[in-house]
Amino acid sequence: MTVGDLKAAPVNLGGVRAGTNQRTLRRDAWWRNPLATVLFLTAFVVYSTWAVFQNGYYYVGTAAHRDLISPFYSPCITGSCLPGTTGSLVLHWWMISPGILILGGPLSFRLTCYYYRKAYYRSFWQSPPACGVADGHSAYSGETRFPLILQNLHRYTWFIALIFAVINVIDAIMAFRLPGDGGIGLSVGTLVLCANATLLSLYTISCHYCRHFCGGNLRRFSKHPIRYRLWKLATPLNARHMELAWVSLVVVALADLYIRLVASGVFNDPKIL
Ligand code: FES
Repeated sequence: MTVGDLKAAPVNLGGVRAGTNQRTLRRDAWWRNPLATVLFLTAFVVYSTWAVFQNGYYYVGTAAHRDLISPFYSPCITGSCLPGTTGSLVLHWWMISPGILILGGPLSFRLTCYYYRKAYYRSFWQSPPACGVADGHSAYSGETRFPLILQNLHRYTWFIALIFAVINVIDAIMAFRLPGDGGIGLSVGTLVLCANATLLSLYTISCHYCRHFCGGNLRRFSKHPIRYRLWKLATPLNARHMELAWVSLVVVALADLYIRLVASGVFNDPKIL
């Protein structure tokens, strides 16, 4: 088959290639990426849902000489929070899992992320599954109607994500506290929370909206040197947004799992320094 043949075979939305019964003329394993996306995102959704509903084992505190809180439960601001986790803002009336209360913030950011949209539209919605593969649906209204029009809120969810990134950085700093075990120190749990805070911050800064926020709508960078510097900082990270989206997602789940295993007594958090 030549390139000329491919050009002569237009894609019909929701249908087959003209003159054939195939959805695509591609012979490579184009289905691998959508399949991997389905498997990874499903695994994450199942694990995180279980974790936030479990309402326990999300904090390793003074009794274990540590100050480690799961990112799924931070900030813990409800009346049902475990002792030692609660900040000054307490919603006393909220008595179910505090993880459910804060879930909406990070979830709204990831769900409306431009990269994740592409990933789950392709994999779950088959719209289209891959380049050169016919769409799984016969009609396409884009993001012009409810509920997909809500994707346009992404620019606002970025500010929410920024708050969560700062909170995760504070949690990572607090994790250097080893109460009753030398005061300040370093444990594997500290490194886990530092890795999580770093990756979450990089993912947030690499957001397409962040790059636009830094350097968009300007006629001349020369008149806005600070915004130009911020834009220069965000641009190379933006080029790695896809990788940061995946790595930060995996690490936030691993951070929760690590703290859950330590808190439930499966193993102790090893002290390094
Ligand atoms: S585009 Fe992915 S987080 Fe903004």
